[in-house]
Amino acid sequence: MELATVVGEGMNMNPKRSAGVAILGLGTIGSAVANLLQKRAPEIERQYGLSIEIAKVLERGPERAARGNLPGEIVTQDIDEITGDDRVDVVVEVLGGQSPAADYMAKSLAAGKHVVTANKEALAFHFERLLRTAHESGAALLCEASVGGGIPLLVSYRQILAANQVTSIRGIVNGTTNYILTQMTDAGATFDDALKKAQELGYAEPDPTADVEGYDAVYKLSILASMMAGQHIHPESIERTGITGIRPEDIETARNEGQVLKLLAQATLKDGRVTASVRPERVAQANLLAHVKDNHNAVEIVGDSVGPVVLSGQGAGPSPTASAIVSDVLEALRCGSSATPPWTS
Ligand code: HSE
Repeated sequence: MELATVVGEGMNMNPKRSAGVAILGLGTIGSAVANLLQKRAPEIERQYGLSIEIAKVLERGPERAARGNLPGEIVTQDIDEITGDDRVDVVVEVLGGQSPAADYMAKSLAAGKHVVTANKEALAFHFERLLRTAHESGAALLCEASVGGGIPLLVSYRQILAANQVTSIRGIVNGTTNYILTQMTDAGATFDDALKKAQELGYAEPDPTADVEGYDAVYKLSILASMMAGQHIHPESIERTGITGIRPEDIETARNEGQVLKLLAQATLKDGRVTASVRPERVAQANLLAHVKDNHNAVEIVGDSVGPVVLSGQGAGPSPTASAIVSDVLEALRCGSSATPPWTS
């Protein structure tokens, strides 16, 4: 896809390019993306020579545009108006869920639009189709925000993968459950109160069952484990236990033994076979993971040459998630198809 190129002006020696972004869904995350793109526009133009315009939004009605400080006339309910719009270079999918998100992403990729998504569920179930469509059309499919929120996790993983066989992944990948367990452990909060607060802070999924029953962590682990294996590790092959069975007494017993309860996602590769699970586990106070609190996530990746690498930061919430999405939009515009993650389609 060609972007309009004009000569750079003033002190900026980069040739200036205009680029169009479409956002599918102006919910909590979508509106944070719209606001961040607008806030960073002058700096992005100065640093990268990219003049980014939010050209289209997929939403129920024009009144929704106000959530992202955008004009009502760019709102459409028809995905074809977006995939058929030559001004749109990147489609940001933040609808969540599998349907219609996966079809809309496939349609966008087939039309040659780069796709940036935070949607771990759609990726975990529709990996092969989406990656195949991206490879066929030469469009980029980027998903930094889908695992670890604002942590530059997948980009680091891709770097590690280039020189290593990753043999183990272990960590905290769900901000809502980590927030709930932290509040129950450190502040004596009840499960229900902590969950309500996590929802208010924008950490939880629209249906928080996905968080508290461990499904969200399974989808994220499916993405990481697929990268490790070089083939699709289906979410249904991952053992899962959530945190709804944890009682205050369990937290207290662990504390008395110098441990804390954490929802851990783990995958190992041995003799060409991946074993993966998500379940609450006791972690010793001396372990780094015991000190990862609230909406923070942390993942340890072990490579055969580099050894263990730990990445940590805010794993949930509109602002860190928008940070990862906007970085992906820039990567898609700057690198195009070479930005596609390197796992097997
Ligand atoms: N509900 C998710 C979480 C959002 O709590 O981690 C970020 O993926």
